[in-house]
Amino acid sequence: MTVLVLGGAGYIGSHTVDQLVNGGYDVAVVDNLVTGHTEAVNPAARLYVGDVRDKEFMRTVFTKENVEGVVHFAAFSVVPESMQDPLKYFDNNTAGMIHLLEVMNEFGVKNIVFSSTAATYGEPKQIPIKETDPQIPTNPYGESKLAMEKIMHWSDLAYGIKFVALRYFNVAGAKPDGSIGEDHNPETHLIPIILQVAEGKRDKLQIFGDDYPTPDGTNVRDYVHVLDLADAHILALKYLAAGNESNAFNLGSATGFSNLQILDAARQATGKEIPAEMAPRRPGDPSTLIASSDKAREILGWKPNYDDVEKIIGTAWTWHETHPDGYSSK
Ligand code: UFG
Repeated sequence: MTVLVLGGAGYIGSHTVDQLVNGGYDVAVVDNLVTGHTEAVNPAARLYVGDVRDKEFMRTVFTKENVEGVVHFAAFSVVPESMQDPLKYFDNNTAGMIHLLEVMNEFGVKNIVFSSTAATYGEPKQIPIKETDPQIPTNPYGESKLAMEKIMHWSDLAYGIKFVALRYFNVAGAKPDGSIGEDHNPETHLIPIILQVAEGKRDKLQIFGDDYPTPDGTNVRDYVHVLDLADAHILALKYLAAGNESNAFNLGSATGFSNLQILDAARQATGKEIPAEMAPRRPGDPSTLIASSDKAREILGWKPNYDDVEKIIGTAWTWHETHPDGYSSK
């Protein structure tokens, strides 16, 4: 029996594929390589290059592979881009989920673990955010993922497809040996951008907004290591395989770091100066996002190994130092 990982050549997907292979799972990967990288896929996994929205292609994959569970990462995830081009997000993310569920239903595959996001909550009503809190996204990316959660809810009732939605907060870091890591083009995320400044590939960091209602005025986010996220997917697969009900879990550290604190931690982790300047707010950014992950700890038995943001940044720095041009570095 095989775990099928959609988007397994991407950042979080490739780390999860690696953990699955190392955990003894048989793994197949689907990725259209629009943002993913062939080199990121553990060679023990079988890679099918194609698009989740292409039902004929997906039928060939489900025919060849004896799929027992699906882990679905294949999505666009850049908040500012989603503000400029919302239809791109509803097409790839939300419509992609509909096509996928149709094919899963045809083949009788009943379990799916899916990447949701803190962005489904929007501007939180309370901190830390609980799974039962209102989900009112402030950007189309979060809206596209919330729609995916709702589609899954109704598909569970109608077709018996069980799901776990994992609502990630801010993922960071890389496999500590530096063999796989984060490589987006263009890069938009805070920690890799800071590390590109440390590498000398950018002149300076621009910090988007210093007038938020936070202690230092910059946005506060909750960072979780990519390998801890990968572990949570494996626990969620086990949870579904044991016959449990569909569920949603926050994945974060319950600790918030402001953008200025992250800059400081990166200066410590790299020993570099890292020039930075203040810049205007970025549209769609909530002020503070911090997760309560008690539910994932209690029900899934999730125990994150990384609780130190400097160590998390340190693993990303190892990747950046060994791969200054990402996967094209030789
Ligand atoms: N930021 C800067 N300068 C930059 C880049 C980012 O100041 O050059 C700031 C952002 O404004 C924000 C913080 O750094 O305040 C984090 O921004 P990221 O783009 O790294 O991450 P986001 O919080 O916007 O979004 C990430 C994922 C989303 C996910 C969200 C949930 O990209 O998919 O976390 O918290 F939904």
